[in-house]
Amino acid sequence: MPAARAIPLEDELGDVIDKALRCAGFNEEQLAGRAGVSVEKIRNAEDYRYEDLTDDDLRRLAGALRLNEVGLAALARDRYPRPRVTGLPFCVHPMRLPFGVGVVNAYAVVDCATGVGLLFDGGTGFEALQQVWPRAVTRIEAVFLTHPEAEHIGGISGALRQHGLATFYGPRCGPTGPGCWPLGEGETVVAAGYQITAFSTPGHCAEHNCYLVRPKGVPRARALLVSGDLIFAGSLGGGYFSCQQLLRHARRILEALPGATVIAPGHGPMTTVANERKYNPFLV
Ligand SMILES: [Fe+2]
Repeated sequence: MPAARAIPLEDELGDVIDKALRCAGFNEEQLAGRAGVSVEKIRNAEDYRYEDLTDDDLRRLAGALRLNEVGLAALARDRYPRPRVTGLPFCVHPMRLPFGVGVVNAYAVVDCATGVGLLFDGGTGFEALQQVWPRAVTRIEAVFLTHPEAEHIGGISGALRQHGLATFYGPRCGPTGPGCWPLGEGETVVAAGYQITAFSTPGHCAEHNCYLVRPKGVPRARALLVSGDLIFAGSLGGGYFSCQQLLRHARRILEALPGATVIAPGHGPMTTVANERKYNPFLV
């Protein structure tokens, strides 16, 4: 597994301020008035220019936007903590596919000896997915979709064909299309020796699931949360469907799971529940 440290965060401070402004429902002028920080500095920050922002400015912005000031300051100074993500009782292979100016992730979760296991999301398309497919992943026995946006669903049908599967698991509501088996909150599937439990987490879009993965019959094993576009290292997904729902689901999941749970997001590096509980700007 590549070191998380080498993978850039999905969001910078400017993106976090932008998302927080949208969620709070006010504009830069209103934020300037509430925080006592100039509009120019706020606009510069949204354009990824942070040189003028003092520690005091960051504290005030965090207060006005109800953000975690330690995490916000860490993002601003390019010191956001990246935990080591070791100790899972299976192998996780992140597949990072180019998407726009960034990267989108799909994940294979497999037995380290046999390479047999599960696929989470399909990236932008099957050809692109094949280009980054790890040799160590030999067979997929079940496929899960976090949300039906093009860059996450693109390679799913090809992956199903390749591995002789007829259906994939996805969020409960909405037209996820033929071959989708819907999973709602708390529903659990057993496949390839794993127990996979769905959390229904709309907010980024109307149809969104996260999945908690453990070896079957080992309830105390360290688990993996495939978080889609709900939780990123150092940020959250955009609340395009409902900011309030997105915030509520991110907070309830980070509160409910053990700190050692590893998080595999739809964009950016892997992280842990403990790290995001402590530093994620949206967790206060
Ligand atoms: Fe995405």
